[in-house]
Amino acid sequence: MPDGLLQPAPDGAVATPTAAVELRGVSKRFRNGTTAVSDVDLSIAHGDFVSLLGPSGCGKSTLLRMMAGLSQPSSGRIAASGGAEGISFVFQEPTLMPWRSALRNVMLPLRLSHMAKSEAEARAAEALAQVGLAGFENSYPRALSGGMKMRVSIARALVTKPRLLLMDEPFAALDEITRFKLNNDLLTLWEAERFTAIFVTHSVFESVYLSRRVVVMAARPGRIAADLAVDEPYPRGEEFRTSATYAAHCREISHALSGAMGGEAHA
Ligand SMILES: Nc1ncnc2c1ncn2[C@@H]1O[C@H](COP(=O)(O)OP(=O)(O)OP(=O)(O)O)[C@@H](O)[C@H]1O
Ligand SMILES: [Mg+2]
Repeated sequence: MPDGLLQPAPDGAVATPTAAVELRGVSKRFRNGTTAVSDVDLSIAHGDFVSLLGPSGCGKSTLLRMMAGLSQPSSGRIAASGGAEGISFVFQEPTLMPWRSALRNVMLPLRLSHMAKSEAEARAAEALAQVGLAGFENSYPRALSGGMKMRVSIARALVTKPRLLLMDEPFAALDEITRFKLNNDLLTLWEAERFTAIFVTHSVFESVYLSRRVVVMAARPGRIAADLAVDEPYPRGEEFRTSATYAAHCREISHALSGAMGGEAHA
Protein backbone atom coordinates (compact mmCIF):
# COMPACT_ATOMS: atom_id res chain seq x y z
CA MET A 1 0.00 0.00 0.00
CA PRO A 2 1.36 3.46 -0.81
CA ASP A 3 2.30 5.32 2.32
CA GLY A 4 2.62 8.73 0.75
CA LEU A 5 0.04 10.59 2.75
CA LEU A 6 1.49 9.91 6.16
CA GLN A 7 4.95 11.30 5.70
CA PRO A 8 7.28 11.22 8.67
CA ALA A 9 7.88 14.65 10.13
CA PRO A 10 10.88 16.45 8.63
CA ASP A 11 14.08 16.26 10.66
CA GLY A 12 13.87 18.37 13.74
CA ALA A 13 10.12 18.87 13.56
CA VAL A 14 7.83 17.57 16.27
CA ALA A 15 6.06 14.54 14.89
CA THR A 16 2.30 14.91 14.89
CA PRO A 17 0.26 11.85 15.76
CA THR A 18 -0.79 10.20 12.53
CA ALA A 19 -3.93 8.21 11.87
CA ALA A 20 -3.80 4.45 11.48
CA VAL A 21 -5.68 4.81 8.19
CA GLU A 22 -6.39 7.97 6.28
CA LEU A 23 -8.62 8.34 3.21
CA ARG A 24 -8.87 11.60 1.31
CA GLY A 25 -11.38 12.09 -1.51
CA VAL A 26 -11.43 8.37 -2.28
CA SER A 27 -13.61 7.19 -5.14
CA LYS A 28 -13.81 3.85 -6.88
CA ARG A 29 -15.34 3.40 -10.28
CA PHE A 30 -15.29 -0.09 -11.73
CA ARG A 31 -14.67 -0.75 -15.40
CA ASN A 32 -18.35 -1.48 -16.00
CA GLY A 33 -19.14 2.10 -14.98
CA THR A 34 -20.40 1.38 -11.43
CA THR A 35 -19.28 4.00 -8.95
CA ALA A 36 -18.93 1.88 -5.82
CA VAL A 37 -17.70 4.65 -3.53
CA SER A 38 -17.58 8.36 -4.07
CA ASP A 39 -15.45 11.01 -2.40
CA VAL A 40 -14.85 9.36 0.96
CA ASP A 41 -12.87 11.19 3.62
CA LEU A 42 -12.12 9.13 6.69
CA SER A 43 -9.47 9.18 9.33
CA ILE A 44 -9.18 6.29 11.76
CA ALA A 45 -7.20 6.72 14.94
CA HIS A 46 -4.59 4.24 16.14
CA GLY A 47 -6.07 1.60 18.39
CA ASP A 48 -9.67 2.51 17.62
CA PHE A 49 -12.49 0.03 16.97
CA VAL A 50 -14.59 1.34 14.08
CA SER A 51 -17.53 -0.31 12.34
CA LEU A 52 -18.59 0.39 8.78
CA LEU A 53 -22.34 -0.11 8.67
CA GLY A 54 -24.61 0.14 5.68
CA PRO A 55 -27.00 -1.57 3.28
CA SER A 56 -25.89 -4.17 0.78
CA GLY A 57 -24.04 -2.60 -2.13
CA CYS A 58 -23.05 0.65 -0.40
CA GLY A 59 -19.36 -0.06 -0.94
CA LYS A 60 -18.24 -1.39 2.44
CA SER A 61 -16.20 -4.25 1.01
CA THR A 62 -14.82 -2.03 -1.73
CA LEU A 63 -13.63 0.46 0.86
CA LEU A 64 -12.10 -2.23 3.06
CA ARG A 65 -10.30 -3.86 0.14
CA MET A 66 -8.81 -0.50 -0.81
CA MET A 67 -7.66 0.04 2.79
CA ALA A 68 -5.92 -3.34 2.60
CA GLY A 69 -4.25 -2.42 -0.70
CA LEU A 70 -6.12 -5.27 -2.45
CA SER A 71 -7.63 -2.75 -4.86
CA GLN A 72 -6.65 0.77 -5.88
CA PRO A 73 -8.87 3.85 -5.73
CA SER A 74 -9.79 5.51 -9.05
CA SER A 75 -9.12 8.84 -7.42
CA GLY A 76 -8.10 10.15 -4.04
CA ARG A 77 -5.50 8.88 -1.63
CA ILE A 78 -5.35 6.15 0.99
CA ALA A 79 -2.55 5.61 3.44
CA ALA A 80 -2.09 3.15 6.25
CA SER A 81 0.46 4.03 8.85
CA GLY A 82 3.36 1.61 8.59
CA GLY A 83 2.33 0.34 5.16
CA ALA A 84 0.88 -2.98 4.05
CA GLU A 85 3.12 -5.13 6.25
CA GLY A 86 1.06 -4.70 9.40
CA ILE A 87 -2.37 -5.30 7.88
CA SER A 88 -4.47 -8.45 8.28
CA PHE A 89 -7.78 -9.19 6.62
CA VAL A 90 -10.58 -11.48 7.79
CA PHE A 91 -13.04 -12.38 5.04
CA GLN A 92 -16.68 -13.27 5.46
CA GLU A 93 -15.92 -16.87 4.56
CA PRO A 94 -13.23 -18.52 6.68
CA THR A 95 -11.12 -19.24 3.51
CA LEU A 96 -9.13 -22.05 5.12
CA MET A 97 -7.15 -24.58 3.14
CA PRO A 98 -9.06 -27.84 3.55
CA TRP A 99 -5.96 -30.00 3.18
CA ARG A 100 -4.11 -28.28 6.03
CA SER A 101 -4.71 -28.73 9.73
CA ALA A 102 -5.81 -25.75 11.84
CA LEU A 103 -2.23 -25.29 13.02
CA ARG A 104 -0.82 -25.40 9.50
CA ASN A 105 -3.47 -22.94 8.27
CA VAL A 106 -2.49 -20.47 10.98
CA MET A 107 1.22 -21.01 10.31
CA LEU A 108 0.83 -20.09 6.66
CA PRO A 109 1.40 -16.30 6.84
CA LEU A 110 4.46 -16.86 9.02
CA ARG A 111 5.93 -19.46 6.69
CA LEU A 112 5.26 -17.11 3.74
CA SER A 113 7.38 -14.52 5.50
CA HIS A 114 10.10 -17.18 5.93
CA MET A 115 9.84 -17.71 9.66
CA ALA A 116 11.52 -20.92 10.84
CA LYS A 117 9.11 -23.84 11.15
CA SER A 118 9.54 -24.44 14.86
CA GLU A 119 8.94 -20.82 15.76
CA ALA A 120 5.98 -20.59 13.39
CA GLU A 121 4.49 -23.69 15.03
CA ALA A 122 4.87 -22.22 18.49
CA ARG A 123 3.30 -18.90 17.48
CA ALA A 124 0.45 -20.55 15.62
CA ALA A 125 -0.31 -22.76 18.62
CA GLU A 126 -0.36 -19.68 20.82
CA ALA A 127 -2.71 -17.85 18.40
CA LEU A 128 -5.07 -20.85 18.37
CA ALA A 129 -5.07 -20.87 22.16
CA GLN A 130 -5.89 -17.14 22.14
CA VAL A 131 -9.05 -17.79 20.13
CA GLY A 132 -10.06 -20.69 22.39
CA LEU A 133 -8.91 -23.53 20.14
CA ALA A 134 -6.15 -25.13 22.19
CA GLY A 135 -6.38 -28.86 21.52
CA PHE A 136 -7.64 -28.42 17.94
CA GLU A 137 -4.22 -27.85 16.34
CA ASN A 138 -4.38 -31.06 14.32
CA SER A 139 -8.04 -30.83 13.30
CA TYR A 140 -8.85 -30.30 9.65
CA PRO A 141 -11.36 -27.60 8.63
CA ARG A 142 -14.02 -30.19 7.69
CA ALA A 143 -14.07 -31.36 11.30
CA LEU A 144 -14.68 -27.86 12.68
CA SER A 145 -17.96 -25.97 13.11
CA GLY A 146 -18.56 -22.64 11.33
CA GLY A 147 -17.69 -20.70 14.48
CA MET A 148 -14.52 -22.71 15.00
CA LYS A 149 -13.44 -22.18 11.38
CA MET A 150 -13.96 -18.45 11.86
CA ARG A 151 -11.82 -18.64 15.01
CA VAL A 152 -9.05 -20.29 12.99
CA SER A 153 -9.34 -17.46 10.44
CA ILE A 154 -9.03 -14.89 13.20
CA ALA A 155 -6.03 -16.71 14.66
CA ARG A 156 -4.44 -16.70 11.20
CA ALA A 157 -5.07 -12.94 10.94
CA LEU A 158 -3.66 -12.24 14.41
CA VAL A 159 -0.63 -14.52 14.29
CA THR A 160 1.39 -11.88 12.44
CA LYS A 161 0.61 -9.34 15.21
CA PRO A 162 -1.02 -6.85 12.84
CA ARG A 163 -1.37 -3.18 13.69
CA LEU A 164 -4.53 -3.02 11.60
CA LEU A 165 -7.16 -5.74 11.47
CA LEU A 166 -9.76 -5.40 8.70
CA MET A 167 -12.81 -7.64 9.03
CA ASP A 168 -15.51 -7.98 6.36
CA GLU A 169 -18.69 -9.30 7.98
CA PRO A 170 -16.75 -12.09 9.66
CA PHE A 171 -19.65 -13.39 11.76
CA ALA A 172 -22.54 -12.88 9.33
CA ALA A 173 -23.00 -16.59 8.69
CA LEU A 174 -23.04 -17.63 12.35
CA ASP A 175 -25.95 -18.19 14.71
CA GLU A 176 -26.61 -15.46 17.25
CA ILE A 177 -25.18 -17.26 20.29
CA THR A 178 -21.93 -18.06 18.48
CA ARG A 179 -21.79 -14.52 17.16
CA PHE A 180 -22.18 -13.05 20.67
CA LYS A 181 -19.45 -15.31 21.95
CA LEU A 182 -17.09 -14.36 19.11
CA ASN A 183 -17.94 -10.67 19.63
CA ASN A 184 -16.85 -10.99 23.27
CA ASP A 185 -13.70 -12.89 22.38
CA LEU A 186 -12.82 -10.35 19.68
CA LEU A 187 -13.13 -7.51 22.19
CA THR A 188 -10.94 -9.38 24.68
CA LEU A 189 -8.28 -9.82 21.99
CA TRP A 190 -8.56 -6.20 20.92
CA GLU A 191 -8.16 -4.98 24.50
CA ALA A 192 -5.13 -7.21 24.98
CA GLU A 193 -3.40 -6.56 21.64
CA ARG A 194 -4.50 -2.99 20.90
CA PHE A 195 -4.57 -3.32 17.12
CA THR A 196 -6.73 -0.90 15.18
CA ALA A 197 -9.94 -2.70 14.20
CA ILE A 198 -12.17 -1.89 11.24
CA PHE A 199 -15.23 -4.09 11.19
CA VAL A 200 -17.81 -4.28 8.39
CA THR A 201 -21.30 -5.35 9.38
CA HIS A 202 -24.97 -5.10 8.43
CA SER A 203 -25.99 -5.31 12.05
CA VAL A 204 -26.72 -2.17 14.04
CA PHE A 205 -26.61 -4.23 17.26
CA GLU A 206 -23.23 -5.73 16.49
CA SER A 207 -21.74 -2.38 15.48
CA VAL A 208 -22.86 -0.72 18.72
CA TYR A 209 -21.74 -3.61 20.89
CA LEU A 210 -18.23 -3.74 19.44
CA SER A 211 -17.20 -0.28 18.39
CA ARG A 212 -16.21 3.08 19.69
CA ARG A 213 -17.27 4.64 16.44
CA VAL A 214 -19.84 3.68 13.79
CA VAL A 215 -19.49 5.02 10.26
CA VAL A 216 -22.85 4.72 8.50
CA MET A 217 -22.74 4.44 4.72
CA ALA A 218 -25.34 5.12 2.05
CA ALA A 219 -25.52 3.53 -1.39
CA ARG A 220 -25.58 4.67 -5.01
CA PRO A 221 -23.01 5.99 -4.86
CA GLY A 222 -21.40 4.56 -1.73
CA ARG A 223 -20.59 7.38 0.65
CA ILE A 224 -20.43 8.24 4.33
CA ALA A 225 -23.82 9.34 5.62
CA ALA A 226 -23.15 9.60 9.36
CA ASP A 227 -20.31 9.13 11.80
CA LEU A 228 -21.37 8.38 15.37
CA ALA A 229 -19.45 7.77 18.57
CA VAL A 230 -20.30 4.97 20.99
CA ASP A 231 -18.41 6.46 23.85
CA GLU A 232 -18.97 3.69 26.40
CA PRO A 233 -16.34 1.93 28.47
CA TYR A 234 -14.80 -1.48 27.89
CA PRO A 235 -14.86 -4.25 28.83
CA ARG A 236 -18.36 -4.59 27.48
CA GLY A 237 -20.43 -7.61 28.37
CA GLU A 238 -23.98 -8.82 28.84
CA GLU A 239 -24.65 -5.93 31.18
CA PHE A 240 -23.88 -3.46 28.39
CA ARG A 241 -25.83 -5.51 25.84
CA THR A 242 -28.97 -5.30 27.96
CA SER A 243 -28.55 -1.70 29.14
CA ALA A 244 -30.68 1.32 28.32
CA THR A 245 -27.54 3.09 27.07
CA TYR A 246 -26.93 0.32 24.54
CA ALA A 247 -30.56 0.50 23.40
CA ALA A 248 -30.29 4.29 23.02
CA HIS A 249 -27.18 3.97 20.83
CA CYS A 250 -28.90 1.30 18.73
CA ARG A 251 -31.89 3.59 18.23
CA GLU A 252 -29.70 6.52 17.24
CA ILE A 253 -27.71 4.45 14.76
CA SER A 254 -30.82 2.72 13.34
CA HIS A 255 -32.22 6.16 12.75
CA ALA A 256 -29.06 7.28 10.94
CA LEU A 257 -29.16 4.10 8.88
CA SER A 258 -32.80 4.60 7.85
CA GLY A 259 -31.89 8.16 6.91
CA ALA A 260 -29.01 6.81 4.81
CA MET A 261 -31.36 4.35 3.12
CA GLY A 262 -34.11 6.91 2.60
CA GLY A 263 -36.05 6.50 -0.61
CA GLU A 264 -34.63 3.08 -1.43
CA ALA A 265 -37.06 0.47 -2.61
CA HIS A 266 -34.85 -2.38 -1.42
CA ALA A 267 -31.81 -2.93 0.76
N1 LIG B 1 -15.47 -5.97 -9.20
C1 LIG B 1 -16.58 -5.24 -9.38
N2 LIG B 1 -16.97 -4.82 -10.59
C2 LIG B 1 -18.06 -4.05 -10.77
N3 LIG B 1 -18.85 -3.63 -9.77
C3 LIG B 1 -18.52 -4.01 -8.54
C4 LIG B 1 -17.38 -4.83 -8.25
N4 LIG B 1 -17.31 -5.04 -6.92
C5 LIG B 1 -18.36 -4.38 -6.39
N5 LIG B 1 -19.08 -3.76 -7.34
C6 LIG B 1 -20.27 -2.91 -7.16
O1 LIG B 1 -19.92 -1.88 -6.27
C7 LIG B 1 -20.95 -1.61 -5.36
C8 LIG B 1 -20.42 -1.80 -3.94
O2 LIG B 1 -20.12 -3.16 -3.73
P1 LIG B 1 -19.55 -3.71 -2.36
O3 LIG B 1 -19.32 -5.16 -2.53
O4 LIG B 1 -18.42 -2.87 -1.93
O5 LIG B 1 -20.80 -3.45 -1.39
P2 LIG B 1 -21.01 -3.91 0.12
O6 LIG B 1 -21.43 -2.70 0.88
O7 LIG B 1 -19.82 -4.64 0.61
O8 LIG B 1 -22.27 -4.91 0.00
P3 LIG B 1 -22.61 -6.22 0.87
O9 LIG B 1 -23.12 -5.72 2.19
O10 LIG B 1 -23.69 -6.89 0.09
O11 LIG B 1 -21.38 -7.05 1.01
C9 LIG B 1 -22.09 -2.53 -5.73
O12 LIG B 1 -22.97 -1.84 -6.55
C10 LIG B 1 -21.41 -3.66 -6.48
O13 LIG B 1 -22.27 -4.23 -7.41
MG1 LIG C 1 -19.50 -6.61 1.23
